[in-house]
Formats: sequence, C-alpha cells, structure tokens
Amino acid sequence: MKKNKEKITAKLKKALGAKKVKENIPLAPLTTFGIGGPAFWFISAENKKEILEAIKASRELEIPSFILGGGSNILIADQGFPGLVIRIKNEGLTIKGTRITAEAGLPLAKLVESAQKNLLSGLECCVGIPGSVGGAVCGNAGAREEWIGKTIEGVSIIDKKGEITHLNNGDCKFSYRESRFKNNPQEVILEATFTLKKEKKEVIEQKIKSFLKARENQPKEKSAGSVFKNPPGDSAGRLIDQAGLKGKKIGQAQISEKHANFIINTGGAKAEEVLKLIRLAQKTVKEKFNVNLELEIKLVGF
Ligand code: EPU
Repeated sequence: MKKNKEKITAKLKKALGAKKVKENIPLAPLTTFGIGGPAFWFISAENKKEILEAIKASRELEIPSFILGGGSNILIADQGFPGLVIRIKNEGLTIKGTRITAEAGLPLAKLVESAQKNLLSGLECCVGIPGSVGGAVCGNAGAREEWIGKTIEGVSIIDKKGEITHLNNGDCKFSYRESRFKNNPQEVILEATFTLKKEKKEVIEQKIKSFLKARENQPKEKSAGSVFKNPPGDSAGRLIDQAGLKGKKIGQAQISEKHANFIINTGGAKAEEVLKLIRLAQKTVKEKFNVNLELEIKLVGF
C-alpha cells in the first residue's frame, strides 16, 4: 500500500508539478466545521487549466478525487480523504451589463457584494452564506423560498469525459437545496453566469437586511449550516427542537441551543461525534413525528 502510494505521488507530481502536489494536508482548517482528517494528496487549483489537469490526473491514475470549495456544507471523516483533494481557487469575476460571470472558487460573499455594489438584484438571498460560488451552485444555496439557481443563466463544467461543457439553467435541475451536481461528483463546476436585474440601491439594501434578519437565530460557532433539509411544509429545526434535542452534546459536538438544525463544534469535535448526533436526530424525529430527515450537508470520506 505504502509503495503504491509513493508511486502515485510520483506520478501526480510529474503530471501536476512537484511543488503543487502536497501530501497529508489537514482538511479541518479548510472547513467551516473545523472537523476532518487529512487528504492523502492535495492540490490548490488556481485556474481552469489547473483544475482540468488535476481532474484528468486523478482519473488517469484511478484515484478518488474530491472537489473542495469553501468547505461550508460538508462533514469530513476523522480519517480524512483517501485520495486527491482539489481545492478550487479560481476566483475571477466579470460584469457585463446585468450579467455577472463568477468563477467557482470565488467566495460567495464577494459575488453578493459585487452585485450589490453594481446595483444588481437577485443574489440578496445569498447574503451571509459562507462558502464558494461553486459550492453554492452545487447545493443551490439560499434562504427559504429564494435560491441561487433562480438567477443562473448557465454554468461551465468539466464533464464526465473531462471536457469543458456549457449547461443552461434547465440542464442544472435546480430545486430546493438540489442540483444535478449534488449527486454527480464527476461533473466539476468551473464558473457560472448570473442574470440579474438593475435595481435601486435602497431596494437591494432592504432585501439584504431582511435576509440577514432571517439568519439572526443561527449560531455563530463553527458549524456546517443547516444539517438537514427542511421536510416539505415543515422545519427540521422545529422538529429536532420539539423532539427535545436542543443542546444535546456528544463529545465536543452539540445540537445548537440557538437553532436545532445546526450542529456546532464546541472545540475539537470529531466527525464521529457529529455523525452520532445526526443519527440520533434522525431516529428521534422519526419515532416522534414519523418524519424522515434528509441530510443537506455532504459526508466526505466515510
Ligand atoms: N424553529 C424552532 N426551533 C429551532 C429552530 C427553528 O422551533 O431550534 C422554528 C422557528 O421558530 C421557525 C421555523 O422553525 O418557526 C423555521 O426556522 P427558521 O426561520 O430559522 O428557518 P429554517 O427553515 O430553519 C431556513 C434555511 C436556512 C436559511 C433560513 C433563513 C433550510 C434547511 N434552512 O432555515 O438555510 O438561512 O431558512 O432564510 O432550508 C442552510 O441551508 O444551511 C441554511 C442556513
């Protein structure tokens, strides 16, 4: 195994550059949860070419790969990721009239800020959401009835065959916290184009304010945002709260006292502890209310 790993390391370095390919990189600091073991191999891909090359190398060497954006909607296993983690760091942004094209590695906050500055409306629902543009598109981030997918004109991806392809909004299959990308890790988002609407400064400010207000009941501690999707017509937070689990702690992981659909890392929490709380919430809510809670966050390396 060790020998095989060394061989792959050598091949990866040859394909992507000796300095680019890092080994045993801790992933916890790259996530909002602050949880997770190391990546066997790690590369920070700064542009389309580097992303494409990394994807091609992992496919040719037949090693698992994981695309890491802002690290905000994921729980990485304590043992880490046994493959190549490709951190998406292309961060370009261009504005033409009412259209913004943002590269996948751009922090979502910068996209929202840029739209606001240019008096372009449509992305206000993403204010206060951590993570990258690529991650937000993948998970169709947003607030309750508003989400990022609604403003997307098209997305550029690397497809299953390793070719750059353009998808229009309909191809992306956006729905509540879902897109084709969420269940299709073979497709890698490179950039997205948003069609926005010219709007008065005050109107945008008001919208931003109200979306921020809706997030005031969320904890400030390290977390991965909402753990579960809301079941149709109900709220995961309300159900977990009513099940009596608010504040429940396993190790250093805790169901937030502030909002029951958040699990927080109170300091040095293990992924295993978070997972136990996830299973406990699912089991208790099923028993008490006969509702299945579906994960919104993605489990990596389990
Ligand atoms: N509630 C409780 N107890 C709790 C938490 C919530 O009773 O511990 C009740 C609230 O009182 C309210 C209802 O549940 O009546 C809904 O709660 P909230 O308004 O906080 O909204 P949410 O449905 O929990 C959704 C999104 C958030 C988004 C907010 C605000 C999901 C899973 N969550 O939360 O998105 O920020 O609306 O727009 O759709 C995320 O997806 O990561 C996320 C944070």
